[in-house]
Amino acid sequence: MTDKPRVLDLFSGAGGIAEGFRSAGFQIVGGIDSWAPAVETFSANFPEAVGIEADLRKVTAADVTAEIDGKIDIIVGGPSCQGFSTSGGLSRATGRDSSDPRNKLFLNYVDLVEDLEPSWIVFENVPGLLLYDQGRVALEIVAAFREIGYSLLPVILLAADYGVPQLRRRLFFIGNRTGSEVSFPEPTHGNANLWADYALPFAHLSRLGHGKSHDVAQHVSFADACSDLPILGEGESLDGVAYRTRAMTAYQRLMRKGSKTVGQHTAADLPALDRLAAQTLAPGQNWRDIPIDDLPDRFKKIRRYDATTLLKRLRPDAPAYTITTKFNEATTGAFIHPSQPRTLSLREAARLQSFPDRFAFSGSVSQVRHQIGNAVPPLLAQAIAEAIYPQAMQDCFARKVEPIRDRLMIQPSLTDGDILRLRAPRRPAAGVPAELVA
Ligand SMILES: C[S@@+](CC[C@H](N)C(=O)[O-])C[C@H]1O[C@@H](n2cnc3c(N)ncnc32)[C@H](O)[C@@H]1O
Repeated sequence: MTDKPRVLDLFSGAGGIAEGFRSAGFQIVGGIDSWAPAVETFSANFPEAVGIEADLRKVTAADVTAEIDGKIDIIVGGPSCQGFSTSGGLSRATGRDSSDPRNKLFLNYVDLVEDLEPSWIVFENVPGLLLYDQGRVALEIVAAFREIGYSLLPVILLAADYGVPQLRRRLFFIGNRTGSEVSFPEPTHGNANLWADYALPFAHLSRLGHGKSHDVAQHVSFADACSDLPILGEGESLDGVAYRTRAMTAYQRLMRKGSKTVGQHTAADLPALDRLAAQTLAPGQNWRDIPIDDLPDRFKKIRRYDATTLLKRLRPDAPAYTITTKFNEATTGAFIHPSQPRTLSLREAARLQSFPDRFAFSGSVSQVRHQIGNAVPPLLAQAIAEAIYPQAMQDCFARKVEPIRDRLMIQPSLTDGDILRLRAPRRPAAGVPAELVA
């Protein structure tokens, strides 16, 4: 049987979520984004799907069905909710405020879901959303979907827990309109000393990542991910060249599948301060290890124990920190290569985001950087996709398939208080509803 649940990716970017869902056995039928370089990348890497360049404030279900034949089983992706108006502007019951331009993207998204009627939704956002207005924004999002028949649950996942060599956390609302249980992927990787070794914001929002609850592999490190890539100088670019070594780790083997050469291995030119840091710091050191007289005044105002990832050199034996859209700039984050005097190349950043080497990005260097930094790591998306796969197959094709990974099953009928506390789900005993941790 070749039945595959059909996925539409909204705000698709380059297609990080889509890549993960495809690897998990879903069929990507379309991606919509308003930014031409991202749509070009999506279209090139998903020839089986329709890439649509359009503003999602204006797209209607009729526009989608005019371009994409057949039903849509799953909608993935979501608008950035950072600018949401929180004064009762999202749910119909509390008075939807579609005149507020900040709400327009989200409300049109809800309309699209209502009209296209996918069985499942995976809606991605930044973890800080759970803090906005003491959680009210998150609850309004849940309420807005409830009104159109969907039960969604939020969870913050740490990408490193799913084999991504990066300490990046993302918030996902996952749910359906079928009444099926919602499942979250169990971590496959961990680090029992995570919170001792790293200063991560919002640590209290995620109890995952400890690797204590069951046997997991160690988090994948920078060296595990990138040690086979050619040595590169500041401002240099290599494309279509041979790998430096054979694949040394399982991660490198995975990244090299379908690729014979290294592409887009491009490092930025550095300003003087970034160069000084890249040439002198030891792995794990940061701006505090640079002589105070060499630092510009703005650094002198930072307290010495704050902003510990600025001008930081990555450690080879640990995962990277969050890859942003500015990983060329050492002064904005932990982006200095562990041993080479430069910031991360495009290919290294793509690897740290778990994009396979065969995935080529379209656009200028800066546009590619934005697509990479904006993406959901494909391996994280794959974990989510695999977790919901059995229910999706049941809901879409009435087919029973065995789970392909360990999952945390959650009943979708939860109270608002339970929903906010779900950010820290505990592993339930078999057959027992998930226990919620305050
Ligand atoms: C965080 S990125 C999405 C990344 C994607 N989920 C991935 O995994 O690669 C957000 C995307 O939303 C797109 N976007 C922002 N406003 C939009 C709008 N009004 N209509 C369509 N796309 C929009 C941006 O161009 C950007 O590519």
